[in-house]
Amino acid sequence: MSVFRNIISLTNKKGGVGKTTSALNLASALHSAGKKVLLVDNDHQGNLTAAVGLTPAEQKYTLANLLLAAIDYPEDIAIHMQRTLLQIKDGLDLIPANRRLADAAARLQVMQLSQYNAVGNSERYCEKVMSELLLSVTSDYDYIIIDCGLQHELLTINALAASDYCIIPVQAHFLASEGIPNVLDMVRSVQSRFNPNLKIAGILLTMYQSRPQLCQSVRESVGEVYGGAFHVFERPIEYSIKVAECPAAGRSIFEHAPKNAAAESYRSLAEEVLRLG
Ligand SMILES: Nc1ncnc2c1ncn2[C@@H]1O[C@H](COP(=O)(O)OP(=O)(O)OP(=O)(O)O)[C@@H](O)[C@H]1O
Ligand SMILES: [Mg+2]
Repeated sequence: MSVFRNIISLTNKKGGVGKTTSALNLASALHSAGKKVLLVDNDHQGNLTAAVGLTPAEQKYTLANLLLAAIDYPEDIAIHMQRTLLQIKDGLDLIPANRRLADAAARLQVMQLSQYNAVGNSERYCEKVMSELLLSVTSDYDYIIIDCGLQHELLTINALAASDYCIIPVQAHFLASEGIPNVLDMVRSVQSRFNPNLKIAGILLTMYQSRPQLCQSVRESVGEVYGGAFHVFERPIEYSIKVAECPAAGRSIFEHAPKNAAAESYRSLAEEVLRLG
C-alpha cells in the first residue's frame, strides 16, 4: 500500500540560520492554505514550542516521552501520542520539546552502542525511532514539519530518516560558509543507510538584506559552489525586525505582521512546497 507522506525536516549544521522561524512560518502558511499540519519540535532548546507561545519547561508530555516510549513500549505509542499532541489551532498541532529531549538523545545513543556491538541483532535501529513513532500519525496530517536542533546529531538523523524532504535554511550573506557540505554528508549518509526516499527540497535563503534582484546572483553562486545540485527556493526570506519580534510574541509572521514582505516570502515557500507533491 502506498501512503501519501509529506514529512519535511528543516536542518542545517549551523545555528541561528532561521530553521525554527522557517518551520513555524512554513507550517502556518500550509495551514492557511487549508492543509492539516503537525509541527515537531526536535530541539531540546524548545524554541519552536516557545515560538507558538508555550513555555517549554512547563510541558509535561514532549517529544522526549514519545521517543522513550517508542524505545521501551512501542505498543503504547498511541496512548502517549494522544496526550502529547497539542492543538495550536484547528488543523495545526505541535509535539513540543524541552530540555528533557537531551535525555531521550542519550538513550538513543546507548541504543546505538548496543546495536553496533550486538552480533546479528539488527531488528531495531536507534536511527529509526522517530520514523516508527510518526507512523502512528502520518495519515492524520497533510504535512509534518520537523524543526531540528544542532546538538544531538542522532535526533537530526532520526528526523531525516523519517522525512521525505529536507529544507536547508541558509543565511543569504554567508552562503559559502554555512555548513552546507556538512549537511550534505549527513543527508547522503541517511539516504544510503536508512531512507532512500529522502530528497533535498532546496536551500532557503534567509535574513536577506539586499534588493530582490541580487538574489539571482546568490542563486548563481550556489550553482558555482555546489554545481547546480540544488534547487534554491524562488524568494529569499527578507530580514525584518517584525520577524525577529515573532518569538517573543508567540506568533507567526502571518499573525504578527501579515503584510510584511517576509510573510509574502513564506507564502511563496509554501506554494513551492505544495507543488512538491
Ligand atoms: N527573516 C528574519 N529577519 C529577522 N530576524 C530573523 C529572521 N529569521 C530569523 N530571525 C531571528 O534570528 C534568530 C535565529 O532564528 P531561528 O531561531 O529561527 O534560527 P535557528 O536556525 O532555528 O537557530 P538555532 O540553531 O538556535 O536553532 C531568532 O532570534 C529569530 O527571531
Ligand atoms: Mg532553532
